[in-house]
Amino acid sequence: MVENVASTVAELEPEDFYLLSGLEQGMRFSEWVDREKLPEFTEMTPEETDYRLNRCADRDLVEGKTIQYDGYRLAFEGYDALALHTFAERDTVAGVGAPLGVGKESDVYEVSSYRSFALKFHREGYTEFREVMQERDYTADRDHVSWLYTARKAAEREFETLEALYPDVSVPRPVDHNRHAIVMEKLPGPELADARLESQQVVGVLDLILREVTTACRVGYVHADLSEYNVAVGEEGVAIFDWPQSVPTDHENASELLERDVANLLGYFSRKYPRETPDVDPERVADAVERGEFDSVEAFA
Ligand SMILES: Nc1ncnc2c1ncn2[C@@H]1O[C@H](COP(=O)(O)OP(=O)(O)OP(=O)(O)O)[C@@H](O)[C@H]1O
Ligand SMILES: [Mg+2]
Repeated sequence: MVENVASTVAELEPEDFYLLSGLEQGMRFSEWVDREKLPEFTEMTPEETDYRLNRCADRDLVEGKTIQYDGYRLAFEGYDALALHTFAERDTVAGVGAPLGVGKESDVYEVSSYRSFALKFHREGYTEFREVMQERDYTADRDHVSWLYTARKAAEREFETLEALYPDVSVPRPVDHNRHAIVMEKLPGPELADARLESQQVVGVLDLILREVTTACRVGYVHADLSEYNVAVGEEGVAIFDWPQSVPTDHENASELLERDVANLLGYFSRKYPRETPDVDPERVADAVERGEFDSVEAFA
């Protein structure tokens, strides 16, 4: 739990962060960093490095594994600690609060600073990699891609997309980014899947979402994972979030992905609100969205 990581971060000393970032450096070359080589990366003496390693292991920030050598790597809590430390130094985050959501590949927390924001830690690659490593317990590490890299790339991609889309498209305002973590504005309300729309709101909300999708296309992006779980609905309107897998509109599969997004959304509305949702052809709607000509589903009924 990151609530623990936040309190752990508060009790860490500068040398503990040298240890964690030394391990981060070492993981560019191997998934499990040899304890004996660690001082090269931490730039501390072997004694100090060992002492800090034990402190971090006691706090579950690092994990050890004996292979042909005594290996260590960052646990995701250790990587979280590094990102949180950076955000604290930049005054982006002053405290970590309650969980806001758990995704398939992320943990999202409420954080405070001059106001309340959402902090999303990406976890892509962490579990997958673990399985792969167990299957072929190799130490050669020739095609080594650390989960740190995968998770960081996903966070970078998501942050860049949010920056490109905001404020033209209604997405959470991006605030800061470090390693595998992004800080953004909180969503305006619950996920569409948890919202109970009144009959007379249904078509209006569907149109709002599809107009945002249309604007995103005009700016140059297709979400590519659009569903009732990645759209929030509030009093002030809708917001589309969770963008790490988005593709540029000039991507070879962009049209296909857009059509799938539109079909997912229309499918959800017609299942949940069968009486209010007009029966329309997703392909024709997606075409209009792509051309920037979408205004209302009613034109397709
Ligand atoms: N800006 C935010 N403000 C408030 N809550 C958020 C915010 N971003 C995400 N959440 C919550 O965290 C959950 C997971 O976020 P998100 O969908 O971005 O992650 P994910 O791991 O990619 O999800 P998925 O399971 O769809 O792959 C969301 O369903 C939502 O409840
Ligand atoms: Mg999601």
